[in-house]
Amino acid sequence: MSGLLAGKRLLVTGVITDASIAFSVAKLAQENGAQVVLTGYGRLSLVERIAKRLPEPAPVIELDVTDPAQLAGLADRVREHVDGLDGVVHSIGFAPQSCLGGGFLDAPWEDVATALHVSTFSYKSLAMAALPLMSPGGAVVGLTFDATVAWPVYDWMGVAKAGLESASRYLAMHLGKQGIRSNLVAAGPLRTIAAKSIPGFDEFEDAWSGRAPLGWNLSDQVPAAKACLALLSDWFPATTGEIVHVDGGYHAIGS
Ligand SMILES: NC(=O)c1ccc[n+]([C@@H]2O[C@H](COP(=O)([O-])OP(=O)(O)OC[C@H]3O[C@@H](n4cnc5c(N)ncnc54)[C@H](O)[C@@H]3O)[C@@H](O)[C@H]2O)c1
Repeated sequence: MSGLLAGKRLLVTGVITDASIAFSVAKLAQENGAQVVLTGYGRLSLVERIAKRLPEPAPVIELDVTDPAQLAGLADRVREHVDGLDGVVHSIGFAPQSCLGGGFLDAPWEDVATALHVSTFSYKSLAMAALPLMSPGGAVVGLTFDATVAWPVYDWMGVAKAGLESASRYLAMHLGKQGIRSNLVAAGPLRTIAAKSIPGFDEFEDAWSGRAPLGWNLSDQVPAAKACLALLSDWFPATTGEIVHVDGGYHAIGS
């Protein structure tokens, strides 16, 4: 097996359609020599159907990342398919509608708590659930949407992403002594189910394509996926707690 991830065993969460960033990660990872195990949430049969579109059949394990019992059983379930893990991809985000689309001032705590549980705390939960299978050189990679500024319509999801970015740095600190890295990819807007569920998300889609120095294709998940692969590979051995922007360069340009 050859390729950037030759011989690597990866756990990839977050596939729900073939537009999911996670689907592109899984596909490219297989094409580059990795063995992939997927987790699916909710509509398992749908995830299994999408998994069949990958170059190689990939097993799908059920995982609600807020369910302590499923997290506790994850390592054993993964072991049924691979004898260890070299990388874990967190490609999960969710916020109730009240938390998005301008609802920042009115969203109730219960809804905000859900957003933070699924989108922020789960990064640590997933890493810890997979940790028994990992060894020095392993990597955890997650997806963020640049949380250094407030965005129109992103609201509590933006707060959740700010928390995720911090959580990744803390994970880097706590797992560094075990030789495990934690890094995020800050992707520009991409037309996935998660993005479509944000009312008004299309408002800054056009602005993005116009302002990004390299331009930006809202339907091309490959650049973000490639960055995930690079961070999972052996080519960033001394990089942790980092956020790599894959946004056409948008973040670097003032308006
Ligand atoms: N699409 C964008 O514009 C964009 C930009 C930057 C970052 N991101 C981030 O990329 C990641 C992947 O999102 P996507 O855009 O590919 O959308 P997507 O809708 O394809 O993926 C989101 C995934 O989260 C999963 N999920 C939701 N609740 C879960 C739970 N309780 N347990 C386990 N899984 C759960 C869903 O099943 C789905 O597979 C998210 O973290 C998202 O915030 C997306």
